[in-house]
Amino acid sequence: MSDSNDKILEIRDLDITFKTTAGPVHAIRGINVDLKRGETVAIVGESGSGKSVTMRAAMGILAKNAVVNRGSIIFRYHHQDGSEAEVDILSKDKKWIRSHINGKRMAMVFQDPMTSLDPTMQIGRQIMEDMIWHYKTPKEEARKRAIELLTEVGIEEPEKRMKEYPHQLSGGMRQRVVIAIALACNPDLLICDEPTTALDVTIQAKIIELIRRIQKERGISVIYITHDLGVVAKVADYVNVMYAGRIVEKGTINEIYYDPRHPYTWGLLSAMPDLDTNDERLYTIPGSPPNLLHEKAGDAFAPRNKFALEIDDKADPPMFQISTTHFAATWLLDPRAPKVEMPAELRAKILRMKHEAGLDDTPAPEERATGIATDADVREEGSAAGAVTAADGKASGNTSGEVSEGVKADSAAETKAADSAKSGEGGSADTGNSGAAGAAENEEGESHA
Ligand SMILES: Nc1ncnc2c1ncn2[C@@H]1O[C@H](COP(=O)(O)OP(=O)(O)OP(=O)(O)O)[C@@H](O)[C@H]1O
Ligand SMILES: [Mg+2]
Repeated sequence: MSDSNDKILEIRDLDITFKTTAGPVHAIRGINVDLKRGETVAIVGESGSGKSVTMRAAMGILAKNAVVNRGSIIFRYHHQDGSEAEVDILSKDKKWIRSHINGKRMAMVFQDPMTSLDPTMQIGRQIMEDMIWHYKTPKEEARKRAIELLTEVGIEEPEKRMKEYPHQLSGGMRQRVVIAIALACNPDLLICDEPTTALDVTIQAKIIELIRRIQKERGISVIYITHDLGVVAKVADYVNVMYAGRIVEKGTINEIYYDPRHPYTWGLLSAMPDLDTNDERLYTIPGSPPNLLHEKAGDAFAPRNKFALEIDDKADPPMFQISTTHFAATWLLDPRAPKVEMPAELRAKILRMKHEAGLDDTPAPEERATGIATDADVREEGSAAGAVTAADGKASGNTSGEVSEGVKADSAAETKAADSAKSGEGGSADTGNSGAAGAAENEEGESHA
């Protein structure tokens, strides 16, 4: 592909298992992530979905008990002289990555600044350390750069702060220092793993703003990991929604916020606090994520999905394509699936969000518009059996039988399912998913222009 070189990171079919005394934990199940130069990509999902493992793999710092079953992580970066380089991180050992990539071309900001900072070392020395280690920068020059960096991340009286220790700073300031350290070697890629989770809300907003500003000013690429879909809109251009080690939906911010297609994304959006309503009841997605020690057939989200079809218990859905940038792995997008709409509550919420964002010129919809389904619609607990509701009646006739016959839960199935989906056999054309023309995601096809 001609434009593939403006991708700074390409994660392809990454599959990782952890060896544990209780048995193998299949934490990452064949994921693809793309990041273009100068863009911010968010990875969103509940605790345990595999966000951190994915990024630790990209940084070559996986735990010792990790086994990479397959995949590649191509990273394209610049040498100090400006020349370009390309490496498959998975083909390199930790020592090489530590001296050539980590803290140099790729830098990471973790959730708790206290774990990244050395409590016994002055702030200034911690910022200078990587410059001196990686580039043999003379001490005086490194000191000057450190002061500039502290100024860049919004720390006042930087000269004075240089001599202080981490405990003398507030949480927000400590995170600014961590960001300054990350930027010290002028990296191509900044990976932020829940960088604001440990901070209170106002500080959170400031750190998010800072990351966004730095990203824009320096034109670097950022991967932003969070469990909070609410912060994503403030930082990211593109979103990957992760569930149980898979990416279940990906798209631009607008596609994920205003046109979500996966029931899990519907759940995340429904769970997002809605500042504009007085509704104090906060929606939570029923059930909990699966135990990755005991993998079962079918869609891992099915037991929590009240829109699940019969096929969901048998085969993992392929990635269906909705637009050139938007993909979702749900059987609801199969052309033969019954027409299932997002909960009316959520549709109303999305209309409100669009209105707030100034994306439509219709008046704000009533909070409790007449005729709109009640909360019960969204809140209803979905058990695996109960989940195959209205959809089931229609689905079992043609979808589940045919699809499940031809589809096994392996990657070859993706193509098969997509092919059969394309032909549209047995399915009514009018599924309401006309955009989901049945093209499955493949390595070429999923670039986000
Ligand atoms: N070293 C390890 N050994 C065994 N299992 C592990 C190891 N590291 C991670 N896991 C498992 O891999 C899965 C994904 O973990 P990961 O840390 O990526 O989750 P996460 O999405 O970052 O969650 P959180 O939001 O809580 O940070 C979890 O089930 C976790 O228990
Ligand atoms: Mg994590």
